[in-house]
Amino acid sequence: MSRGRPRAFVTRLLPEPAPSLLGEVFELCGNLGDRPLTSREILEGVPGASAIVCTLADRIDAAVLSAAGAELRVVSNFAVGFDNIDVTAATKRGVLVATTPDVLTEATAELTWALILAAARRVVEGDALVRSGRFTGWSPSLLLGKELTGGVLGIVGMGRIGRAVARRAAGFGMRVLYTRRSGPLPAEAVPGGEQWGFAANLHALLASADVVSLHVPLGPETRHLISAPELAAMKWDAILVNAARGPVVDEAALAETLRQGHLFAAALDVYENEPVITPGLEGLTNVVLLPHVGSATVATRRKMAESAARNAIAAVRGLPGVNAVNLQVPCVPPCARVDQWRV
Ligand code: DGY
Repeated sequence: MSRGRPRAFVTRLLPEPAPSLLGEVFELCGNLGDRPLTSREILEGVPGASAIVCTLADRIDAAVLSAAGAELRVVSNFAVGFDNIDVTAATKRGVLVATTPDVLTEATAELTWALILAAARRVVEGDALVRSGRFTGWSPSLLLGKELTGGVLGIVGMGRIGRAVARRAAGFGMRVLYTRRSGPLPAEAVPGGEQWGFAANLHALLASADVVSLHVPLGPETRHLISAPELAAMKWDAILVNAARGPVVDEAALAETLRQGHLFAAALDVYENEPVITPGLEGLTNVVLLPHVGSATVATRRKMAESAARNAIAAVRGLPGVNAVNLQVPCVPPCARVDQWRV
C-alpha cells in the first residue's frame, strides 16, 4: 500500500488555524461545512482515516472506531469533555483520545458567572419585559432578584473550570464551598483559595449553598447526580447552574422542582437530551436557557481549534505533548524525533 499523506476525517468546519495546520500534514476529508454530520455519514467517511477530528456533538462509538480501521491513531475532540467518545473501545484499539483542556477554562468560567448573574438578577425576564413594550417605568417591586453578596457559592467538581469559577467569587463577595472526588485541594493548588471550604459530601454542600454550580465531567457516577432528592436538599431560594453536561441533572425533576416554587431559579447552558429541551423547562420564567456556549468566544474557539489540530498531528507523528485522556496508549511507532517535526 502506498504511504501518502495520512488522512484526517474532520466532522465539522473548525475555526482557523485548525484547517491550515491540519492541511499541512493530512489529506483532509469529511465535512468542511458547518452542519452536523449524521451517524451514517461519519461511519461511511472514516474508513482509512489516521485521525478523526470531531466535536462534542459527534458520537464516536465502537462502530465508528471499527469502521475507521487499523490506520486510526487518534480521535481528537474539539472540546474538553469527551463523553461523546467511547474511550474504552478506543483504548482497546490503541487509539488516543485527545481533548482541549486549559484553553477554554476562563471563557467557561465567565459564562458560568453570566448564568449566575442572569438567574439571580432576572436579566432575561427584564430584557423580555422591555422588548415587549410592557415596561411602564421604575417600580419598587419590579423583578426583585436574589442578592449574591455574602452568600455561599457551592461548586460541585473542583477541576480547572470549577477553580476558575471559584476564583471569581471573591469579586462578588461570596464564600466558596466545594466538593471534589479526590478530597480537599492541596494548599499549593489554590492560590487565593485559602478561604474555600471543602464540603464533607454533596448533600452538605447543597444544604448550605445559595448558588450551586456544577463542574463535573459526565460519566456513570455523575449521570443524574442532581436528581429529586438533591434538589429537595437545596435551599428553597437557591440557584442551580449547569454549564457542565446536561445529563448530570435530571431535568424532569428540575422542571417539577422549579414549577413547585422550590429554588429561586436555574440556569442551564447544557441539556440532558441536547439539543432537545426537556418539556416543562421552556415555559418557566425562572430558568435561564443558553445554547451550549460556555467556550464560545472568538479567542477561545481559535485556541481550541489549534489545540485539536496539534493533538491530531502530534498523535499521528508519535510525538509527545498530546492532551490524551487515555495516556496508557503507547507512543505509536515509529516515534519521530521531536525536533524533526514542526508542531
Ligand atoms: C467542552 O469543551 O466540553 C465544552 O462543553 C465546549 O463548549
